[in-house]
Amino acid sequence: MKIAFIGGGKMVSNMVKGFNRGGLQQEQLGVWLRDKEKLDVFTENHSVTPLHKISDIATYDVVVLGILPKSLREVANKLRKHVQPHQILISILGGVTIDNIDDLFAEDQKIVRVMPNTPVGVNQGVLPMSNNVLVSKKEKKLLEETFEILGDVHWIDESLMYTMPGITGSSPAFIYMLIEAMADNAVSVGVDRETAYQMISEMLMGAAAMVQETKLHPGVLKDQVTSPGGSTIQGVMTLEKLGFRNAIIEAMNAVHEKNK
Ligand SMILES: NC(=O)c1ccc[n+]([C@@H]2O[C@H](COP(=O)([O-])OP(=O)(O)OC[C@H]3O[C@@H](n4cnc5c(N)ncnc54)[C@H](OP(=O)(O)O)[C@@H]3O)[C@@H](O)[C@H]2O)c1
Repeated sequence: MKIAFIGGGKMVSNMVKGFNRGGLQQEQLGVWLRDKEKLDVFTENHSVTPLHKISDIATYDVVVLGILPKSLREVANKLRKHVQPHQILISILGGVTIDNIDDLFAEDQKIVRVMPNTPVGVNQGVLPMSNNVLVSKKEKKLLEETFEILGDVHWIDESLMYTMPGITGSSPAFIYMLIEAMADNAVSVGVDRETAYQMISEMLMGAAAMVQETKLHPGVLKDQVTSPGGSTIQGVMTLEKLGFRNAIIEAMNAVHEKNK
């Protein structure tokens, strides 16, 4: 499967990085950027084919729209006559529905919407996807096989797509804040910062693996760490007193609200 990207900002860079790390190289990946100098820099930093004209997308199976939502109409006007019905148009645009895209392209355009998160750059992303009826089961399977290079693909009902930034897209920011806060504490008791970041991120990956592999309820896993009269329960009670869980729920609600 050959993939052409339109735009090459933060998210497309992360996706290309992940595809390169996962073995897709120059002949399978193309990038079109409106700015020639930026295209040169992009191709110096990644293994991709520079697409000098937007019509160069013709030989690709998939065209990924990686521009900003506000530029969609302008880019669609340039792209429309070059996208063929057999090609799958993938949008990563936040807050833009399949219907919005459908309105700007041919009636028979196959469209997929995906909301990747930045860990796609290290092949550990989460990729919620929705499709229009023109995308076949076989095409979905092929897309899944290719995009699983970047992380885990989940086909979801498009009505839930607006919640994905809060659940998997923006939420890495919350986790980075958690890591930073825990490392600040570790540094305050004498651990060097680099070791603190390393240990805390390892702990997070271990805790996530426990959830995935044991399939136990997170509350049961928490109970397993808290012995009667021990120190962990003191920390848990402090977090409850300070509204930790409610703060997380409200932060996610704030993201959902903004994406409605
Ligand atoms: N960042 C994330 O975590 C994330 C997560 C999920 C989805 N997304 C979505 O991904 C898309 C890109 O986000 P980003 O964070 O990568 O943004 P970004 O870093 O600002 O990159 C935007 C890219 O679009 C290009 N572009 C903008 N307007 C254009 C136009 N009129 N014609 C041609 N190219 C144009 C820019 O080119 P120039 O450099 O020439 O301006 C740049 O290459 C957005 O729609 C966003 O909703 C982002």
